[in-house]
Amino acid sequence: MSVVRSVIRGCGSYLPAGVVSNAELAKRVDTSDEWIVERTGIRQRYLAGDGELTSALALKASQSALAAAGVSPSDLDLIVLATTTPDETFPATATAVQASLGMTRGAAFDVQAVCSGFVYGLGVADALLRTGQGTNALVIGAEVFSRLLDWNDRTTCVLFGDGAGAVVLGTQPGQGTTNDRGILATKLHSDGRLHDALYVDGGPGKTGTTGHVRMQGKEVFKHAVVNMAGVIEEVVALAGLTLQDIDWLVPHQANKRILDSTAKKLGIKPEKVVTTVDQHANTSAASIPLALDVAVKDGRIRPGQLVVMEAMGGGFTWGACLVRW
Ligand code: UT7
Repeated sequence: MSVVRSVIRGCGSYLPAGVVSNAELAKRVDTSDEWIVERTGIRQRYLAGDGELTSALALKASQSALAAAGVSPSDLDLIVLATTTPDETFPATATAVQASLGMTRGAAFDVQAVCSGFVYGLGVADALLRTGQGTNALVIGAEVFSRLLDWNDRTTCVLFGDGAGAVVLGTQPGQGTTNDRGILATKLHSDGRLHDALYVDGGPGKTGTTGHVRMQGKEVFKHAVVNMAGVIEEVVALAGLTLQDIDWLVPHQANKRILDSTAKKLGIKPEKVVTTVDQHANTSAASIPLALDVAVKDGRIRPGQLVVMEAMGGGFTWGACLVRW
């Protein structure tokens, strides 16, 4: 049976210039390189400069993804931008990227699912492309997450960083089998009862301020491993494949221990897991497309391979997307 598939035509990423090591952070906060590395695997993070906005990081990642795909902004029908740190409460930061790219048609909007945002964005864009909304879509994950941090709270401020990544999706006919290139399956979940484990204590409605990240780390850790392992199994089964078929896991990068525990729970070899948390820290919605770009550029992810991207974040939200590259 002939079907329409959304194929990843190219990817790109961008990191701000400011690199901050754990040792530098330890001069500002009561922490140490040893604690951060042992508990999280993080060694450094990139922080956006004053006045450097999510839209600016998103634009640079998008330009690099469009160049890699050989697609021009005028060929785009859709921009879906996953972010928790929009430039303004409204309009959507995606529309700022649309204007900067010189794209004057189609639709652009933001998706808010915190660290799961990029997987949600892929799911939304894939569904819209397959139902005739257009031929080419840009899906971006971009954050200046450092703006949400309480720099007096050592339990959260050492964990996060800023950055952006993007992919260009294009439609292509497939046979409706697992040999097709493109997105083969997506599975999204949320459970709003777990709000208090990870949230921001502000917002336009509640306080009129942006607020700061508050997290019950151990609670999040426990759910992250169970939920991500579960949704990986679900998405692989949905496509009619098995875990043994998977070439690469590209997880949301929150904590090396979460990545290791999830892979171990599923019996997936550690060398199949793309890990960038040591270099980027947790960049929320940007972490998966940043990691993807690293593994594509260094030649690990190759055409024809099966890649699972999965994430979990505040809400809770979680999800996974299975792609044949
Ligand atoms: O993107 C999705 C959302 N985020 C996550 O997935 C994060 C999930 N959670 C985690 O990654 C881990 O729970 C953390 C890295 C946040 C914390 O690791 P942990 O092993 O669960 O440590 P803990 O919270 O139990 O804290 C252990 C100790 C505490 O001291 P006491 O009470 O044992 O004396 C903390 O006060 O470590 C202390 N601590 C720190 N010490 C030095 C907490 N943060 C720091 C710090 N530096 N930055």
